[in-house]
Amino acid sequence: MTFLFNSDPRRGAIFADAFARELPDVPFTMDAAAIDTDAVRYLISWAVPDNLDRYRNLEILFSIGAGVDQFHLDAVPVNVKIVRMVEEGIVRMMQEYVMLAVLALHRNLPGYLAQQRAGEWADIAQPQAGSRRVGVLGLGQLGQAVLDRLKPFGFQLAGWSRSPRQIAGVTCHHGELGLDEMLAVSDILVCLLPLTGETRGLLDAGLFTKLPEGAALVHTGRGPQLDHEALLAALDSGHLSAAMVDVTDPEPLPSGHPFWLHPKVILTPHVASVTQPVTAAQAVVENIRRYRAGLDPIGLVDRSRGY
Ligand code: NDP
Ligand code: OXD
Repeated sequence: MTFLFNSDPRRGAIFADAFARELPDVPFTMDAAAIDTDAVRYLISWAVPDNLDRYRNLEILFSIGAGVDQFHLDAVPVNVKIVRMVEEGIVRMMQEYVMLAVLALHRNLPGYLAQQRAGEWADIAQPQAGSRRVGVLGLGQLGQAVLDRLKPFGFQLAGWSRSPRQIAGVTCHHGELGLDEMLAVSDILVCLLPLTGETRGLLDAGLFTKLPEGAALVHTGRGPQLDHEALLAALDSGHLSAAMVDVTDPEPLPSGHPFWLHPKVILTPHVASVTQPVTAAQAVVENIRRYRAGLDPIGLVDRSRGY
């Protein structure tokens, strides 16, 4: 019942320690070339490795990240469970990034950076946090965690999911109608949705027109959810005031793309959050224990929903 680690070997060394300590009866390897492929029951990877079908007894494919769109779910045999990464390190980093982004946009950082470059010393009028409305697309592990961190600042908070949710201090919306309701009251919109057939291209011109005049965007979901041209048009027309973008399509963003130098765009290279190996290894160990005890692993992907 081998566990095959197919990712960065430095992270792998930390996983190896955790397996030796916590699950000594599960052989752990990073050497795909030197194993009995029939022995592999568990595999962790960012993308589906070539020739996945050679692991004929594979039971669980773990994603090293929170998203699973990079797996192309149809490429994974239906009998194999797919489990996304649910671990405290990735949550903590996303909380930090979204706080950074929301506060930067709330306090007009892109505008002040532009003024600095122009040698201009002037204040920009802005509302207090209590009258700034922040809407979060996606109320999963990450969306809920960032809302939790935003609460102490006193923003008016809203969130949107597929199914109805109740979160204290957050006005929750769901489904197609709920989206329009939330957009109408989102001065800062944060995207933390998984990439699926339904969310691909969601952040488009039509969506931007439903946001209040002067609204701003934080995009930390996946690049193909954002229509880049539509964002540029909304920024250039002044309907949107600024955007902090962590994920693009393609990645890396090609040189010469307008996002690189746009004064209203702050760009980061898909680093909003990164799986933390110590806590991730512990989460995977716990999940194997759950699975062996007949329980569903935490983060089990529902293939019909695509996340
Ligand atoms: P979860 O699966 O825990 O949550 C997903 C949320 O999105 C759920 O609330 C779900 O609704 C909602 N959702 C999905 N589809 C729709 C839809 N069609 N309409 C409305 N709501 C929808 O995911 P995580 O919170 O763990 O992660 C979210 C995403 O963040 C990842 O898939 C990945 O793309 C991105 N990410 C980005 C990183 C970065 O560094 N930029 C790092 C880590 C993740 P419901 O509650 O009803 O199921
Ligand atoms: C993830 C990511 O999905 O890093 O974990 O984007």
